[in-house]
Amino acid sequence: MTKGGLYPLPVTPQLMMAVGTAVIGSLQFGYNTGVINAPQNIIEGFYNETWSNRFSEPISQTTLTALWSLSVAIFSVGGMFGSFSVGLFVNRFGRRNSMLMANVLAFIAATFMGFSKLAASFEMLIIGRFIVGLYSGLSTGFVPMYVEEISPTSVRGALGTLHQLGVVIGILMAQIFGIESIMGNASLWPLLLGFTLLPAVLQCALLPFCPESPRYLLINCNEESKARSVLMKLRGTEEVSEDMQEMREESQKMMREKKVTIPDLFRSPTYRHPIFVAIMLQLSQQLSGINAVFYYSTGIFERAGVSQPVYATIGAGVVNTVFTVVSLFVVERMGRRPLHLIGLMGMAVSAVFLTIAMALLDQLRWMSYVSIAAIFSFVAFFEIGPGPIPWFIVAELFSQGPRPAAIAVAGFSNWSANFLVGMCFQYVEQLCGPYVFIIFIVLLLGFFVFTYFKVPETKGRTFDEIAASFRQSAGAGSDKYSAPEEFSTLRGDDPDL
Ligand code: GLC
Repeated sequence: MTKGGLYPLPVTPQLMMAVGTAVIGSLQFGYNTGVINAPQNIIEGFYNETWSNRFSEPISQTTLTALWSLSVAIFSVGGMFGSFSVGLFVNRFGRRNSMLMANVLAFIAATFMGFSKLAASFEMLIIGRFIVGLYSGLSTGFVPMYVEEISPTSVRGALGTLHQLGVVIGILMAQIFGIESIMGNASLWPLLLGFTLLPAVLQCALLPFCPESPRYLLINCNEESKARSVLMKLRGTEEVSEDMQEMREESQKMMREKKVTIPDLFRSPTYRHPIFVAIMLQLSQQLSGINAVFYYSTGIFERAGVSQPVYATIGAGVVNTVFTVVSLFVVERMGRRPLHLIGLMGMAVSAVFLTIAMALLDQLRWMSYVSIAAIFSFVAFFEIGPGPIPWFIVAELFSQGPRPAAIAVAGFSNWSANFLVGMCFQYVEQLCGPYVFIIFIVLLLGFFVFTYFKVPETKGRTFDEIAASFRQSAGAGSDKYSAPEEFSTLRGDDPDL
């Protein structure tokens, strides 16, 4: 029986409902990434006013800049802690319940941020940003893990891309809501930040109707009949024996794997290669320079001579969304590797044009149009590959046992690099002027070479097949279904195998 033969419709309404509900968490991450870009001046005004009332003197520029940088960057610090904690939740409470519980953080964060003006406390805003960062860090682990585990192999990449689609829609919503005439003004900005409450309520209302991941039920909880009935609903057919068989095989191997901890990922030759690939892919996403655009685009456009920078920023958000949709439709046809390579190279070329445009701006005013086009194409190529792929490929590179630890390490690498770019970009830009993107060009080319030589294709392969190929290349097994050496040794002790 071939995949697809008995599953004429791999995407059922139940599956879409579960994926759609999960990616509300991605939307929250995107929203809070984009929300502080437009209203910067207005919220800085509030900081100044609060400071003056408290200390009877205006805030100094240095303190204001430091407080603002902290408010922006503490979100990624929260993300670092959150993503690193993913493993504490997913095996104990399950994937779905972990997502449900995390919403407590979204509620607390929305309250802190939404009431900070009323309480005349910028500290509350900063704490709220940290807490919503924690929530977002958890989401960047929970959502791709859940979506990948409930998806049929043939559309796993396309559905995995929906996590990124949630992120980019969140960014776009934040950019639009942040326009002055909507909520980006002195009286409504608390609502803009507190808006995070609504998606949290929606997700809490919908999650109870979504199933737990059948892989978690079978492999982690040994609940075979529950796993089967969930699978039948998700697949819309009673014929789920192929999936069940594949999960059982993985389960048998996992029983021999015990619990995989984070240090194990680096010690075992079987995991060392995939964890290295996972970390490098996360770094390729963040060190591509994408968040230099999403945190600071308005300023970049301003310096590039664009007259309506806020609208150019929204333009970048629209391009971002459109090209994520393009990636969604081509990722199962073209595969992960080619898209990631095309994306990285395209970003490098766009960054070359951006650098030329910024350098020649003083001589040629029309270069401002070239710079807009270059930033739009930089963003478009990002979403073809480096945006969506790193988030979901980690779940594909590892089987059930090491997956939570691997997702935690990968997420932590991603958020740390995110923090680094967020904190340093403005300072480095002051040093390098229009040539700042050359740093990203060099990094992008390095990641291109790495991907070309080291990243395997995962399209259309089961989790077990992918893990087996890593074991093989670690020199432990030969045939793609064979167990590695450590399992073979155990096999001798166990008459059931
Ligand atoms: C990815 C990145 C995130 C970035 C976004 C832009 O999700 O992880 O940091 O802001 O893409 O679309």
